[in-house]
Amino acid sequence: MSASKRLAAEKAIEYVEDGMIVGIGTGSTVAHFIDALARIKRRIKGTVSSSEQSSERLRQHGIEVLDLNQTGPLSLYVDGADECDPRKCLIKGGGGALTREKIIAEASRHFICIIDPSKQVPVLGRFPLPVEVIPMARSLVAREILALTGGQPVWRDGTITDNGNLILDIHHLDILDPVAMERELNQIPGIVSVGLFARRAADTVIVGGEPPKLL
Ligand code: 5RP
Repeated sequence: MSASKRLAAEKAIEYVEDGMIVGIGTGSTVAHFIDALARIKRRIKGTVSSSEQSSERLRQHGIEVLDLNQTGPLSLYVDGADECDPRKCLIKGGGGALTREKIIAEASRHFICIIDPSKQVPVLGRFPLPVEVIPMARSLVAREILALTGGQPVWRDGTITDNGNLILDIHHLDILDPVAMERELNQIPGIVSVGLFARRAADTVIVGGEPPKLL
């Protein structure tokens, strides 16, 4: 699986242009992308990172990490996913970085998602859907999720996000209308963000392989 992730990441490097500020996601596939980016780091202006984990890896490579408030809109964002459907809607947040990932995706003109073939699904929901939650609202949000979706929210015990919040993973969903589910979950007070990337789906998906496949 790691070889497919690396092949997808290497392909995404072809989209990096001179002078760009590149948005960087989080996870093991993105780690391959960061390592590949290091080889051309003198050609880019810098990066905006979606997690402390990615920022650390970028800095280890001597790649500058910038503040999104200073950069303005980005041309390119590269990130992985936990699931991807045929419309390029995604489940993300397996690594708990969904909120900052969503912010950077929104700020970016071109969102490239890099995945291995196991992430492709006909319908989203086999992977438990992560939602980031304000700590005091954990039980309230869990009850409302159960009533709204019928899915089973499970507290990812021991995980604190980079924003100081908690994660609930919603099990047993068949997400037939990802845009509607994202919108409805976003209405629940206490939810910071939902790991469904449907309203702002990926623009390009690169599935790692020999050769990589573009969706
Ligand atoms: C982190 C994410 C990751 O993109 C997702 O979990 C995929 O990770 P990996 O590349 O390690 O399979 O959304 O919040």
